[in-house]
Amino acid sequence: MSKTTVLTGITTTGTPHLGNYVGAIKPSIEASRLTDTESFYFLADYHALIKCEDPERVNQSTLEIAATWLALGLDTDNAAFYRQSDIPEIPELTWILGCSCAKGLMNRAHAYKAAVQDNVAAGQDPDYEVTMGLFNYPVLMAADILMFNAHKVPVGKDQGQHLEMARDIAQRFNHRYGECFVLPEAVIDETAAVLPGLDGRKMSKSYDNAIPLWQGAKKLRKSVMRIVTNSKEPGEPKSVDESALYPIYAAFVGQAEREQMKQQLADGLAWGEAKKIVFERINDELAPGRERYNQLIASPGEIEAVLLEGARKAREKAIPLMEKVRAAVGIRKLG
Ligand code: TRP
Repeated sequence: MSKTTVLTGITTTGTPHLGNYVGAIKPSIEASRLTDTESFYFLADYHALIKCEDPERVNQSTLEIAATWLALGLDTDNAAFYRQSDIPEIPELTWILGCSCAKGLMNRAHAYKAAVQDNVAAGQDPDYEVTMGLFNYPVLMAADILMFNAHKVPVGKDQGQHLEMARDIAQRFNHRYGECFVLPEAVIDETAAVLPGLDGRKMSKSYDNAIPLWQGAKKLRKSVMRIVTNSKEPGEPKSVDESALYPIYAAFVGQAEREQMKQQLADGLAWGEAKKIVFERINDELAPGRERYNQLIASPGEIEAVLLEGARKAREKAIPLMEKVRAAVGIRKLG
């Protein structure tokens, strides 16, 4: 039986936080061990350039994200783990796909449209600070996916449209030039925990409410202590929806511990005591990975070697596919 191919990318612009861990990293790492799937996980550093013009940050984020996935036990024997920019076939495919992709389709992309609308609302030129990178983003993403004939692509809700576009692009190409690409499907886990941040809004670097994944135990404790709670006194009954504390805890524990926390809060557990429990639990889960993470960050050469091996594996698929695509469009030897 042929295996299902699962692929996903992580844009290398930030420092991993607890929300990334719970929502994407942990489930992906678990999935990397499934032997009935062929998995591709990659660091989308070309995508990073669309959002970030700070070279140090792109580089540092690549290092941190790679170290995170490896420290947490990504199975790199079973999954290909690579950096997008180590696969020269990806930008090549991006160009070729762009030549049959309708510009009108890209005009409808949410991220681009939002940028234009913001400009218009601000009385600016509609294209003010809109780059070709932003405009082409969905084509690059389609190339990432179609390059490896991915069947399933686990992504956040915000990426659903990009998957539809990848399917459109693949369909149009197949129709024009013959079957080259599998039509990919988005896998959007509606039940996935969207972790709230310190202030209760979705945990996000842009809201400045994130708890960094990797910090020493002391700092982690401080972060947990900063989760916003109300002024209810010890002894006063509290409910689970009065603070981000409970949903954060719930993302780390099983049903029994959730029930217990719920009961303790209802019985008047002090916020400070609850925070201690939450800190201990998160710290226990992260401590082993933290040590490995710190080791990896201190030896980037080790990470580099893993990524290059991942790229080698990925190119075993990318090179023959690109040959087929080139031939299909008429870029081939003369005679
Ligand atoms: N654009 C995706 C994000 O911001 C990251 C990404 C790039 C990706 N290429 C991809 C995800 C290919 C899935 C498949 O989350």
